[in-house]
Amino acid sequence: MPKPIGEITRGTTGHNRLRRADRWIAGVHGRLLRGANRPLVVDLGYGASHTTTLEMFLRLRGVCPSVEVVGIEIDPARVAAAKPYERPGLSFALGGFELPVDRPPLVIRAFNVLRQYGEAEAWGYWAMLRERVAPDGVIVEGTCSEVGHRAVWAALDRSGPRTLTLSARFDGFTRPSDLAERLPKTLIHRNVPGEPIHAFLRDFDHAWAVNAPLGSYGSRQRWIASAETLAGTWPVAEHPPSGGRSRWRLGEITLPWSAITPR
Ligand SMILES: C[S@@+](CC[C@H](N)C(=O)[O-])C[C@H]1O[C@@H](n2cnc3c(N)ncnc32)[C@H](O)[C@@H]1O
Repeated sequence: MPKPIGEITRGTTGHNRLRRADRWIAGVHGRLLRGANRPLVVDLGYGASHTTTLEMFLRLRGVCPSVEVVGIEIDPARVAAAKPYERPGLSFALGGFELPVDRPPLVIRAFNVLRQYGEAEAWGYWAMLRERVAPDGVIVEGTCSEVGHRAVWAALDRSGPRTLTLSARFDGFTRPSDLAERLPKTLIHRNVPGEPIHAFLRDFDHAWAVNAPLGSYGSRQRWIASAETLAGTWPVAEHPPSGGRSRWRLGEITLPWSAITPR
């Protein structure tokens, strides 16, 4: 077997850490999975425990009973530790960005993996994953806090990055720009004046401040109102499946990548 592409990095993970991204994949891409023959999902870089892969498997089976999930890890010890948890439809394999699977995955989730690489490498591995994903498939690449209360992810298809989603538990931040520390590697160094992502987070903070009075009805109402305010000047998704009140009420907001493409 050729050497897996990539490097072994820290294996930090945790129960329920990726629930926000799983909920988004199930809600926004459940239909894609259900419409496919033998839908395959890859969880790339699942870390020191099989937990988040198993959780994703159970959540996606809830929206697509035929989905098959393969957890891929570059650390052989972590693959050995996960193997006992295999079951029909869920398996674990040694590998890297080359993705050793028998058919193109419809969904590739890579969470808290690329942050440990350089920015130029992250762009390069995005391109590699884009060549591996199914023609109508999606790559969900992101980062989150230790317990998953703050998360940011990019969704990509074969042609490039399509969207950026910010997702937060309402008691998990003070200002929306607190999520900046969770930006994907391709954006985190771009959160500086003059860059669109910086302007977006600045405007999100402003919308959050302007809508402070709604906080008396709860942070959910304040988030929804802030998303509506932002929609006046930014092309945030306003309609299902990725936008509108049904997503905003979850502490989520999605905008097209074109709005925040680094200069
Ligand atoms: C910080 S853990 C993240 C675990 C889990 N995805 C999470 O978010 O909780 C990152 C894992 O990715 C693995 N990894 C890094 N590069 C990889 C690659 N190219 N292919 C497969 N796994 C990789 C590391 O060995 C490590 O176990």
